Amino acid sequence: MKIGIIGLGKMGETIVQGLRRSPDAHALSISGTTRSAESAAEASKRLNIECHTDNQKLATASDVILLCVKPHQSEKVLRSISEQLDSRKLLISIVASITTEQLHDWSGKTPAAIIRTMPNTPCLIGEGMTVLCAGPGAEQNHVAKAKQIFETVGKTAVIEESLMDGATGLSGCGPAYIYLIIEALSEAGVKVGLPRKISTLLAAQTLLGASKMVLDRAAHPAALKDEVTTPAGCTIDGLMALEEGKLRVTLIKAVLAAAKRSKTLRG
Ligand SMILES: NC(=O)c1ccc[n+]([C@@H]2O[C@H](COP(=O)([O-])OP(=O)(O)OC[C@H]3O[C@@H](n4cnc5c(N)ncnc54)[C@H](OP(=O)(O)O)[C@@H]3O)[C@@H](O)[C@H]2O)c1
Repeated sequence: MKIGIIGLGKMGETIVQGLRRSPDAHALSISGTTRSAESAAEASKRLNIECHTDNQKLATASDVILLCVKPHQSEKVLRSISEQLDSRKLLISIVASITTEQLHDWSGKTPAAIIRTMPNTPCLIGEGMTVLCAGPGAEQNHVAKAKQIFETVGKTAVIEESLMDGATGLSGCGPAYIYLIIEALSEAGVKVGLPRKISTLLAAQTLLGASKMVLDRAAHPAALKDEVTTPAGCTIDGLMALEEGKLRVTLIKAVLAAAKRSKTLRG
């Protein structure tokens, strides 16, 4: 499979690294583009793949085209490669906010099959979460191919397009919320006298362990919370403080605010 990545920035690079770890890596030919010749040369050296600035050449040579540029750059890029796209090609966008209808409209008269995705930054270490939805022209085999690509960098879930902005607010932006929580817990550790390094380890490993419990046991988080909370123990006092501080509603509001912003980015 020939994969062409338009935009070898942070996320584009992350996907390249993930694809490299794939058991099918030997069957993949990956190349990419950037906007400036300078960043193309740097990316090519860093990733040891062909990288240039000619999007038309890349689109011609690729079966799967991954669009990894910023939202405001997407229309110009797609219009410039519309002649090179056709129904035999698969266009996968990771661009926040931009709908499959917009991608389709900007792709010319015979557009490629279109899939819209929203990965997140832990894809960099193979622990990403990518949601995806099928757009115009995309059949089951296209969805399967997109899943296969993003499963090299973590887990995937197929959702309705109407839920993409919400998912952006949750898993796309979510790593930032979690870093904030880890930082706050780490500060708490420092407040009770733990050295900073140990405190951060305690906080991060606790989040990791709790997350794995939820995923591995497929249990409701509330049931797992009850397991930790002994009657008249310490945890219930901690939970009361969190309820008093309105942690739940604050997190819900964070996701809603980011989802609302995602809707406005498409212009
Ligand atoms: N960061 C995240 O957590 C995250 C998560 C999910 C999805 N996304 C989405 O991923 C997309 C990329 O984000 P990013 O953080 O990777 O951005 P980034 O690091 O700024 O990378 C953007 C890349 O696009 C290239 N580019 C710009 N115009 C181009 C053109 N005309 N032709 C070819 N390449 C072009 C840039 O090249 P130059 O360096 O030469 O300018 C750069 O390599 C965004 O749409 C964002 O919504 C981001």
